[in-house]
Amino acid sequence: MTAICDIYDLQELARKRVPRMFYQYADSGSWTQSTYRANEEDFQKIKLRQRVAVDITDRSLDTEIIGQQAKMPIALAPVGLTGMQHPDGEIKAARAAEQAGVPYTLSTMSICSIEEVAKHTSKPFWFQLYVMRDRDFIRRLIDRAKDAGCSALMLTLDLQILGQRHNDVRNGLSAPPKFTINAMMQVLSKPRWCLSMLSTRNHTFGNIVGHAKGVGDLSSLSSWTAEQFDPRLDWKDIDWIREHWGGPLIIKGILDVEDAKMAAKVGADAIVVSNHGGRQLDGADSSINALPAIVDAVGKDIEIHFDGGIRSGQDVLKALCIGAKTAYLGRAYVYGLGAGGQAGVTKALDIIRSELDTTMALCGERLVGNLGRHNLLHPPA
Ligand code: GLV
Repeated sequence: MTAICDIYDLQELARKRVPRMFYQYADSGSWTQSTYRANEEDFQKIKLRQRVAVDITDRSLDTEIIGQQAKMPIALAPVGLTGMQHPDGEIKAARAAEQAGVPYTLSTMSICSIEEVAKHTSKPFWFQLYVMRDRDFIRRLIDRAKDAGCSALMLTLDLQILGQRHNDVRNGLSAPPKFTINAMMQVLSKPRWCLSMLSTRNHTFGNIVGHAKGVGDLSSLSSWTAEQFDPRLDWKDIDWIREHWGGPLIIKGILDVEDAKMAAKVGADAIVVSNHGGRQLDGADSSINALPAIVDAVGKDIEIHFDGGIRSGQDVLKALCIGAKTAYLGRAYVYGLGAGGQAGVTKALDIIRSELDTTMALCGERLVGNLGRHNLLHPPA
């Protein structure tokens, strides 16, 4: 096998190994995918300042994220259906994150349940919450995250309704795959994946099936979202969620300055600047374009995290320079998982760490905390 040099090598391997409906579930944006593409493309427009003859010994990526120690300014983003990229994918990703000393965020729409992940890990992870119409279920879900020792709740606000991803419709996405010719062809063309999936019983949405009333089949994500997700969710709901949870709260899905101000006002501990990986509002700005104005507006009041389009340590560094405290890997680690399970996620984290460290050195910096807009050639005004 040729050497794996970057995240795109892992992506190519994942594309070969994972059935099309699950690979493309991750590798898709909504409708024309313009925002999905812009998330990556807009990083390329930002230029770094090269500095030389600076002592770059004793570098460190150590940081704190919402007051929690981390070995680098990276967190693993919540990703639905992770356990379909690789058996027990959520457990494998959480373990890789634990070893790398960075937070892992478990999605509400995960395959392995909160309890399963807690059972197979030894450090607290974060839990991402979608608010559904059945508030009793949501209260119980928050309680389950507390009982599992989760150390932050991440509330996602940008998916009360689902942006259409054409590939999911064409591929007949469902977990587990349905017995249709289309689905069976996709699955059987990846025999290694099929065999490996026999090693686990986690094949459907573990946080939901058997816990939410009347939900036995989540086959179509869009119809299920339309039935279950609460379209009435508004800023007032944050209060009861925060009170019921009682721990660190991160609000995800902020792309607008006014919304960032609201999130700071409702007492969140951090916001994630995100357009859901270009999977929701097609035509929205890229996350990296939206970041500077949000940092300028609320950066003194609230910790700012960044999500969207990160495929390299250079991307991470650019987001940090603009003012983010940490950057999330979503697809970047999911490709690693599909390519090689836990070792693949570790590889993705190693690649990003090494790129970030070397790039920081070439910018003439030794500590991530010292990065700033002075490291950019044309800093945002
Ligand atoms: C769910 O979070 C999705 O984007 O599919």
